[in-house]
Amino acid sequence: MRVELLATPDCPHVEAADAILRAALAEDGREPRVDRVYVSDLDDAAGLGFHGSPTIRIEGRDVAPPPAELPINLGCRLYPQPGGELAGVVPDEQIRAAVERLREERARAKASRPRLGDIPGHLTRAFFLWASRRHFLGRLATALPITRPMVRRFVAGDRLEDALAVLERLQGSGLRWTVDVLGESVASEEMATAAADRYVATLDALAERGLESNVSLKLTQMGLDIDPDLCRVNVGRVVAQAARSGAFVRIDMEDHTRTDITLQICRELNAHYAEVGAVIQSYLHRSAADVEDLIAHRIRVRLCKGAYDEPASVAFTTRAEVDDSFARLAERLLIDGRYPALATHDEQLIGRAIDFAQANGIGPERFEFQMLHGVRRDLQQQLASEGWKVRIYVPYGRQWYPYFMRRLAERPANVLFILRTLLREGRGSSDRLA
Ligand code: FDA
Repeated sequence: MRVELLATPDCPHVEAADAILRAALAEDGREPRVDRVYVSDLDDAAGLGFHGSPTIRIEGRDVAPPPAELPINLGCRLYPQPGGELAGVVPDEQIRAAVERLREERARAKASRPRLGDIPGHLTRAFFLWASRRHFLGRLATALPITRPMVRRFVAGDRLEDALAVLERLQGSGLRWTVDVLGESVASEEMATAAADRYVATLDALAERGLESNVSLKLTQMGLDIDPDLCRVNVGRVVAQAARSGAFVRIDMEDHTRTDITLQICRELNAHYAEVGAVIQSYLHRSAADVEDLIAHRIRVRLCKGAYDEPASVAFTTRAEVDDSFARLAERLLIDGRYPALATHDEQLIGRAIDFAQANGIGPERFEFQMLHGVRRDLQQQLASEGWKVRIYVPYGRQWYPYFMRRLAERPANVLFILRTLLREGRGSSDRLA
């Protein structure tokens, strides 16, 4: 706070004014700093807007604004006191009131400053989803050490061993899992082949350790954007390996431009090996028809809301519509679907599904809930302890950037939460996040 005491060099009241000012300011326990400014001639007085000695200004504002008719002058200034008399010092009540006013103004200004949480959700969501598609940002983020601890909230780690360690913890808590080897939209045939190799190695490791074999993969990771047939070869290799150990393979769903081909490849794979499942996004208008088709083919469905930035021409745009669609599709799948998975952290939708299941005599052996690693662990545990099956999506690998950005898009408050935790606990404590 900038506090100035302006006075003429021979002012008889300056020391008394200084003492009252310091006492009034010292209330919050801090030693106040008061800058003394001497005004020795009328030119200075005019330049400073000085109307007599002493004058006190806080943040440039006179604590006792002079009447408009008081001219610039170098004389004594007299101030009305609480008892009505005049004296050469500003009453301390007036100084305190001025300080209080200033503090309130500052508090109001701070409160009205825009915060991340005030920015409309759809704008922050659109921003993070846009950023998730920018490869150069991904390269930058992956190179920055600061991002690592933040990412660890949602990602098991870089290596297969990191994922296996998480699975062992989940097993101890009565939760199930599906493992995602992070990666999508690969740019070359070699990268697609390498991604399939990593899945084969993951399936091997799960079987070797006697851990449930269940993986989730994306077709753009298997080369879909390069050549659908290359993708078929790669994903076919993963599914063949899965078939050897009785593993389950879920084909994740990406943005709407890939829905047809993803479901098509899923049906082809499922025709050879029944333990290949699909994902349906409740935000897409087409999903009710797709659910009917998958029910008819006895293909297991994971139902989620959808994580991509979709145009209104293909997707519902309001939360109410997406939730309503989720609830209706969930009920349809609970009745006729083959062991559906309801993938959401939305307590209302989960509660609605449970009510529906109970009302229709559908027990926990007929379906499961699915949630993401690092999101609502309390809810995961609660549902499991109530006897419901809960599977956790556990991603690992170095290609975490787009996945991580979609998680931020789902809940921009994560950014603040992660930054606050980082500041509070330091970088080394990432495992305690969430
Ligand atoms: P909603 O976004 O309304 O969130 C409900 C509550 O959950 C929030 O209020 C918050 O408490 C919590 N929450 C949700 N997301 C959070 C986050 N990132 N961080 C912290 N808290 C969060 N999508 C897709 O398009 N294709 C796919 O293949 C899959 N696969 C998939 C698998 C599994 C197992 C899950 C759980 C989700 C997916 N998704 C997906 C993502 C899905 O479409 C959706 O974006 C997220 O699950 C978030 O939506 P919710 O249903 O949780 O509801």
